[in-house]
Amino acid sequence: MAVETSVTSTDDVIDCIRPAVRERSEYVVDSPPDIEVKLNQNESPFDLPDDLKAELQEEVEDIEWNRYPNEQPTRLREALAEREGVSPESIIVANGSNELTYTFGLAFLDPGTPMVLPRPLFSLYKKVARLQDATLTEVPPRDDLRFDTKGLVTAVQKTGARLTVLATPNNPTGRALRLSETERIAAASPGVVVVDEAYVEFNSEASAVELMDEHPNVMVLRTMSKAFGLAGARIGYLVAQPPVVRELMKARLPFMVDRLTERTALALLRRGGLVEERVRQLQVSITEVVEALKTMDGVEVVPTQANFVIFTTPMAADPLQDSLIDRGVLVRNMGGYPELEGYLRVNAGTRAENKAFLAALEKTLYSSVSDGDA
Ligand SMILES: Cc1ncc(COP(=O)(O)O)c(C=O)c1O
Repeated sequence: MAVETSVTSTDDVIDCIRPAVRERSEYVVDSPPDIEVKLNQNESPFDLPDDLKAELQEEVEDIEWNRYPNEQPTRLREALAEREGVSPESIIVANGSNELTYTFGLAFLDPGTPMVLPRPLFSLYKKVARLQDATLTEVPPRDDLRFDTKGLVTAVQKTGARLTVLATPNNPTGRALRLSETERIAAASPGVVVVDEAYVEFNSEASAVELMDEHPNVMVLRTMSKAFGLAGARIGYLVAQPPVVRELMKARLPFMVDRLTERTALALLRRGGLVEERVRQLQVSITEVVEALKTMDGVEVVPTQANFVIFTTPMAADPLQDSLIDRGVLVRNMGGYPELEGYLRVNAGTRAENKAFLAALEKTLYSSVSDGDA
């Protein structure tokens, strides 16, 4: 007997999609055309050096494109392990660290699983909680927008959180935890604590990798999209205890890192000192931006340990962002986070980009004040 189907329209198809998915929104980043100065995604302003690109062209010729890559990019895994001072078996390399957030969701979150997140936090983690129908408890920040360590300790214990995610330095605020605070939360947690260190290279505090021997519930998430300037290549990685890595691998899609991406990352890692030099430049760059912002009337700047900074001005964020776009400068409006209504975020650019941003901001603020329409 033929099975009768009631899926006869697009709406019917959409009804087949889980409510937990339908209720979400797509991850969309503003990308108006013709933007000359792009400072909205905490990317590095430095592309790969030309000679390294030329080297990669040779690699393209060398690759057997008809062959699958290894499930894990073995050589890159080894190189990253050496850099972190851990064994290769402690690492999972992924298609950007974003990809690993879904691995966490699949591995740790059943419907109703208790999960704790501090606020405000990189939005993807809340999305994963919602997609998996986890029971989410969010802990508001302190007045200075730092994570509330005490509140987090209470929340993880009260809810019995199986998964807690911290980000330090945190996006969107740029504020960082001290290692002792991360340790306090890990020690109090009945479940796993993922520490997202996407911006760790810009901060002087030690990595939570140091905590892993004493606190096996700690896992560290890293990316090559920021300090390494490889956002276009998509490489992130997890550092965890080898037995945990083996289990998490069971939840992963195979072949997520392609052959050229592996070689690109390896070529960059071989350039000893290049990343470190660029990090130093970006630390200077963000300090210069912060200092310039502080001199502007009515501009309030949140201290940052990352390559970006958030700030408020006497002008509302929406028209200010629009006006900066009109002047060819793209920054991020943080109004999507309730605590950050009125805030804009700008990342460190080249000297010329910073200058263009500061000039556009000054013009907008001063001309709007004199026009009386602030
Ligand atoms: C805290 C944080 N984690 C992860 C990511 C994404 O990293 P990836 O490019 O490796 O997916 C970002 C990107 O903005 C971020 O801010």
